Parts: sequence; C-alpha cells; structure tokens
Amino acid sequence: MRVFQVEDAWSMNNLRIGARPDPKPGTGQVRIRMKASALNYRDILVPIRGYGSRMKHLPLIMLGDGLGVVDSSGESVTRLKPGDRVCPLFFQSWVSGAPNQQRLSLSLGCDLDGTMAEFMVLPEAGVALAPAHLDDIEAASLPAAAVTAWRALVTEGRSKPGDKVLVQGTGGVSLFALQFAKMLGATVIIISSSDEKLARAREMGADETINYNAVPEWGKRAREIAGGEGVDHVVEVGGQGTMAQSLRAVRPGGTISVIGVLSGATLNVPLGQIVTRHVRLQGITVGSGDDFAQMAEAIARHKVHPAISRVFAFEELHPALDFLASGKHFGKICIKH
Ligand SMILES: NC(=O)c1ccc[n+]([C@@H]2O[C@H](COP(=O)([O-])OP(=O)(O)OC[C@H]3O[C@@H](n4cnc5c(N)ncnc54)[C@H](OP(=O)(O)O)[C@@H]3O)[C@@H](O)[C@H]2O)c1
Repeated sequence: MRVFQVEDAWSMNNLRIGARPDPKPGTGQVRIRMKASALNYRDILVPIRGYGSRMKHLPLIMLGDGLGVVDSSGESVTRLKPGDRVCPLFFQSWVSGAPNQQRLSLSLGCDLDGTMAEFMVLPEAGVALAPAHLDDIEAASLPAAAVTAWRALVTEGRSKPGDKVLVQGTGGVSLFALQFAKMLGATVIIISSSDEKLARAREMGADETINYNAVPEWGKRAREIAGGEGVDHVVEVGGQGTMAQSLRAVRPGGTISVIGVLSGATLNVPLGQIVTRHVRLQGITVGSGDDFAQMAEAIARHKVHPAISRVFAFEELHPALDFLASGKHFGKICIKH
C-alpha cells in the first residue's frame, strides 16, 4: 500500500511517499480503507523530531487524524462491520476513564503509525463511529482538535448556558471550541490577529471579537466585555505569550484550559493572581474514546459542521504543512486520499 512517511532520518526532506505491505486484521482488529486525513499543529513538529523523545522509531506514517471505511475484520470483532465509517482514536489506548501514563502513551502519527496510508489495522476499541451527517473530510477533522475542545469545555470544564468563554485564535481547536461553546449556550469572545477572520468567526456565532495585535491588552478588554468580573473559561492555545492576558481575562474561580504553547512553552506570570483569585489551570491534551462518542452524539443532534479551511490531495502533504505553518488557515486543513 501507498503511505506518506518520514523515512530513514528525522527531517522534512525525508518525508516522502513510500510503500508498505498491505496489512491484515488479526483477532479483535479491523482493517480500515482510509478516505481522508487532517492536520494538527503537532504535525509541523513531528518530521523534525520536535515532539519529544517518545516518538516511534522510523519509518513513521504521518498524521493523527483521519476517517476511513471498515473493509474487513478479524475474529472476535463484535461492534463494527464492513462498510462502517470510522475515525481512529487519537490516543489508541485511551478508551475510557481519566488520563494516565499508559492511556497517553500511544498517539497516532507520533508514537504509532498514523492515517496517511491506504489501510490501517487497529483494535476495534481504538476506533469510533463517525457522525453520519458529516462528509469524509469533515469527519476526518474530529479526533484531535474537536475532542480537545470538547474535553476542555464539557468533560473537564462543565460549561453551562450563560457562561462566558474566551477563545484564542481561529485554528482547529479554537473554532471547535467556539462551536461547542455556542451549542452549550455560552457567550463567546474570540481573539485573532486578523479582522477578516474575526468577521468569519462572527458569522459562526461569536458574540464579541478582539484583534489581539490591535489590542495587546486584550485580557483587560475581555474582562470589561464580561461585565468587569471576567470570563468563566479561557481556551488557552498561546502559552507563554498569552497567559498573562488570560489571567487578566478570567474571573475569580474561573478556569483556564491550558491546551497549546504556540507562542512559547515556559511561563513567567504573577502566580499570586492564580492563588488569590482561585483560578483553575487545567491541562488538556485531546481526550478518550468516551469523549469522542459524547461529542459525536452532540454534533449529530445539533448538525454541527467543522470549519474546513482547505483540502489538499494525498500527494500534497508538504504544501499542506506549509499552509498550516503560514497561519493563513481558518479551521482545519485536510487531505483527501
Ligand atoms: N489540534 C489538536 O488536536 C491539539 C490538541 C492538543 C493541543 N493542541 C495544541 O493547541 C495549539 C493549537 O493547535 P491547533 O491545531 O488548533 O493549531 P492551528 O490550527 O495551527 O491554530 C493556530 C492559530 O492560533 C492562533 N494563534 C497563534 N498564536 C497566537 C497568539 N500568540 N495569541 C492568540 N492566538 C494565537 C492563530 O489564530 P489567528 O490566525 O486567528 O490569529 C493561529 O492561526 C497548539 O499548540 C497545539 O499543539 C492541539
């Protein structure tokens, strides 16, 4: 089968189309014919071994997100049948329960081979049914970014109608957070570097917008918009460059979901603000199979469609990664197999 993999050394130059034997499903496994994949910020770092020491030995098939159709199964498979449209879980061994070392240790496209292959063979438990109202590209965009936003706002955040949520930027995680927060009845303030992207975010339901380049003190502004007390929840993807403003924006007793480190990975903030204002910092990295299933049910009921920025062909993984790195996207960048 055809795959897109980092071959014999960590480098973008060694990210190429290659060949692997067609896999066959063993006991408890299904074989999936892949139809689509999607990119996440992490995928820019993986080929240059920028994502930690735990990564799989080479060759490594790229990308954690995807959608395919079950085409055969091994013995003892009971839940899935040929023809089912499925998404591989981002964390293959995190099906239920709280995160632990083992459940966080096997992510696709990093610790394990990813979705840029004609076929994947996975344990039945490592695969989730895709929402029927989504096309292949839309469903491929769900496993990492949408589950991250869901876990931040729902599983951990317990957001409720009337909450005020601040969302940073217009990338994959953030636009799912915007959509889910609106679905839950929250008021959403979104910040972006681009007025054009903010206008599009308004069309998607954002209540208030701030250009973070034009208003560097956007945390103060968000707190004013939220009635002076501050917002209930900040969906933090910026890290080093944004945390000080996030702390200004959040209300006493509010939550900051710490999801990304786009502007740096260390913190230099007044810790006293966290202590004296009872702020909860909650780290989030994707979620479980149960999170996926709950989220899929909710978006099917509410007919939510992901924001797809651009679709590339299988052969165009390099330009797709360049487009992600450019920051010009609005929502998810996907690959049609
Ligand atoms: N994707 C996932 O499933 C996932 C899961 C867990 C963690 N994360 C982490 O979360 C972060 C975002 O991931 P992603 O895949 O959503 O990325 P992405 O699609 O590339 O989105 C990046 C967007 O973030 C905004 N941004 C960048 N720097 C910013 C800053 N200093 N302040 C405010 N906004 C800023 C920009 O929005 P504008 O262009 O609108 O300014 C940019 O387009 C990454 O650090 C990633 O590693 C992602």
